[in-house]
Amino acid sequence: MPVRTFRTPHPRRSRRALGALAASATAAVVAAATLLPAGQAGAVAGSLRTLAEAKGVYFGTAIGQGDLNNAALTTVAGAQFGMLTPTNEMKWETVEPSPGGFDFGPGDRIVAFGQAHAMKLRGHTLVWHSQLPAWMNNLPGSQVQAAMRNHIIATAGHYKGKLYSWDVVNEPFNENGTFRDDPFHRAMGSGYVADALRTAKAADPGAKLYLNDYNIEGLNAKSDAMYDLAKSLRSQGVPLDGVGFQAHFVVGQVPSSLKANLERFTALGLEVAITELDDRMQLPPDSGKLAQQARDYASVVTTCLAVRGCVGLTQWDVGDADSWIPGTFPGEGAGTMYDNAYQPKPAYHASVDALGGSASNPSPSPTPTPTPTPNPTDGVACAVTAEPNAWNTGLTENVTVTNSGSRAVNGWALSFTLPAGQTITGAWNAAVVPAAGRVTARSLGYNGTIAPGGSVSFGFQASHTGNAGPAGQFSLNGVACSAA
Ligand code: XIL
Repeated sequence: MPVRTFRTPHPRRSRRALGALAASATAAVVAAATLLPAGQAGAVAGSLRTLAEAKGVYFGTAIGQGDLNNAALTTVAGAQFGMLTPTNEMKWETVEPSPGGFDFGPGDRIVAFGQAHAMKLRGHTLVWHSQLPAWMNNLPGSQVQAAMRNHIIATAGHYKGKLYSWDVVNEPFNENGTFRDDPFHRAMGSGYVADALRTAKAADPGAKLYLNDYNIEGLNAKSDAMYDLAKSLRSQGVPLDGVGFQAHFVVGQVPSSLKANLERFTALGLEVAITELDDRMQLPPDSGKLAQQARDYASVVTTCLAVRGCVGLTQWDVGDADSWIPGTFPGEGAGTMYDNAYQPKPAYHASVDALGGSASNPSPSPTPTPTPTPNPTDGVACAVTAEPNAWNTGLTENVTVTNSGSRAVNGWALSFTLPAGQTITGAWNAAVVPAAGRVTARSLGYNGTIAPGGSVSFGFQASHTGNAGPAGQFSLNGVACSAA
């Protein structure tokens, strides 16, 4: 019979308990900060991670070993995400390139990064038709079951106790809901799924065991097949804990049946997760596509939060620069929340807002701290850097203001002039008005104080009509700043 209760304490409880605390953005940030384990390197208040954890869910990302050398990427990963999936480092071709010859070095490096940042880890993936070594693709059918079991025992055994979950079987279905013709199905029929789950359970009893697929996010033939399989496995007592919905979306095409679909799986007593979220578009991005992408991300986050049993979301890759999309879908890209320079995009701010953060909400304008009372000007001095990252019609710009004076600044108003043709469409870490011309960015509740020698960063998105240069003529609380 289907088991109708969850096997572990349900995240809903902590979500609800914390919901009261989250009545204000400030309280949510404080609550999140106090939940974090001591020594968690890099995670920041108001981040996707802290906001998600305050709601009882995780927010993850995926990285590969080559990414570990990219300081901008790893900084964002460590600061913003609380779950980590290796993009390729636990796949069969990497782990067991020759029969019985195992190499866990690449996977271990991803695990070490996750552990250093107190992140949870998702194992990905044990049994999958793709990224198999040639020897496995060519193995006689009579040897496939033994090879599969051996691979699972060795791999799940190696990582035993370290992973939140395993994608035990990845992408078992064709689009029409029939089983994919792969070495496992050819050798064992559909029973390979139960066999793999049971083998994984024996190798790492503590890991949540998942089936994972794409194009199963909405109600359709493929998700029907996954539902029927999951229901059948549960009724037979096969150890299946969750279903992962990859969620490789196209802007504007998040299925409207996402919530109803997730809920039919949780009704089986399963947990569900968004496991590989991205939202691609035809390149180049423009403000309209980025705005739609922001709405898409917000709706996926909101849906997971609304579904009892949705335990978290993972974005596939960290930023557009390391995303797999351009290499797989020619002409498409820009699918993540971070641009090519690892600056947050509108989708990031929309996700933060959906998680109950408000500090970076560009629309409506965030509530600034009570209009700051500028300090008397003596003792005030400042230096500013302003760095735009532009594409053909838009830009994001990061501004860092350093207090080079002798006294603390308590509440700041930084005025500056935008180049002609630039119109601000959103901002983070400051409230910025008006949208064009001479504008003023004001501190928010959490970043109003700048100690002598200290600095504060904020940023904005803008459209432009050709001049994508930086803002200029900065003044802090009425005192002109120098360029840093
Ligand atoms: C992708 C990786 O990101 C790429 O680097 C690799 O070349 C191909 O695989 N569904 C999955 C992931 O389950 O394993 C895939 O990852 C993306 C689609």
